[in-house]
Amino acid sequence: MSLFNVYPLFDITPVKAKDVYVFDDNNTKYLDLYGGHAVISIGHSHPKYVAAISEQVSKLGFYSNSIQNPLQKALAEKLVSFSGCTDYELFLCNSGAEANENALKLASFHNQKKKVIAFKNGFHGRTSAAVAATDNAKIIAPINAQQEVEILELGDLVALEKALAKNDVCAVIIECIQGVGGLDESNTAFYEGVDLLCKKYNTCFIADEVQSGFGRTGDFFAFQKYNVTPDIISIAKGMGNGFPIGGILIHKNIKASYGLLGTTFGGNHLASVASSTVLEVIEEENLMQNVKEISAYFLEKAKEISEIKNIKGRGLMLGLEFDFPIAELRKKLIFNQQIFTGSAKNPNLLRILPPLTIKKEHVNAFFNALKIELSC
Ligand SMILES: Cc1ncc(COP(=O)(O)O)c(C=O)c1O
Repeated sequence: MSLFNVYPLFDITPVKAKDVYVFDDNNTKYLDLYGGHAVISIGHSHPKYVAAISEQVSKLGFYSNSIQNPLQKALAEKLVSFSGCTDYELFLCNSGAEANENALKLASFHNQKKKVIAFKNGFHGRTSAAVAATDNAKIIAPINAQQEVEILELGDLVALEKALAKNDVCAVIIECIQGVGGLDESNTAFYEGVDLLCKKYNTCFIADEVQSGFGRTGDFFAFQKYNVTPDIISIAKGMGNGFPIGGILIHKNIKASYGLLGTTFGGNHLASVASSTVLEVIEEENLMQNVKEISAYFLEKAKEISEIKNIKGRGLMLGLEFDFPIAELRKKLIFNQQIFTGSAKNPNLLRILPPLTIKKEHVNAFFNALKIELSC
């Protein structure tokens, strides 16, 4: 059976990885500034992570959500102490789309409304309500298009209030820093305005931290730069360092009841241990401080390259904007320089999403390679 051909693939076959490096089947070593799409947080094959998952699978890899699972509770406690989000409860699932799907559904259960407000260039996943809230007509099938969604310009508080005043909006979903869309971020007045308007009109504010959460921006959550209190925070990607896990932090104003949400695999023993270990390593290795330091260094080095017209994003969620499409440059970085980077909806933007363990020497290696490829 052949594979359903939905991904344009680079002809590289990784077989092992260590920290910021990936090795292919010819033992060629690649510097990973893409982190498997912002997933690798504590570095590939981190020894503590490997040991914790191995030990757990040798004891109990999975049981359903019908029994006590202290590993989920331990993860919830660690998440509170790390994020400072004390007024929230945790529901665990398996991916970013699933996190947003649950967030949107919960918002609608909570206030009994059904329209969603999302923003231009936003990306929230490929499932039912999540894909409908994503600003990309190509990935929305007719079955998804039945969802009531209005896409607004990022930053437009006037349009937002006009939409919310109709009193039929269950949720406003927003990435504080857009990932796939191209690292756009509005200003303090906008995010704080969204928070206030959602409270005024009994609409849930969902912060999609699937990509920007777990320390990637130097704050634990990107929204924490602003004085806002989302009703629901969705998380995934860096949460498991590659082990599939997602979740939502739910404000205590939203009450649980049996059967409201559910999943077979979500929060299983292995996934919970993987994510708890990620949090322990972030703390032990002071990775959020590292994000800030390396990010500052990266921005300084970027000033040396005149072809870079703009730098977007925060922490280690960065976009280098050129005045030409970067597809060829990205290929050259992979095949000539053995460096993985990412692309975005904005064709001129090269995305940098490395493991949070990255060091200055890796930044130097990237800029040396970039100089070579830009002068060719
Ligand atoms: C901000 C954001 N939300 C949701 C998703 C969907 O996550 P997943 O691919 O795990 O379903 C992504 C994936 O790129 C994302 O960047």
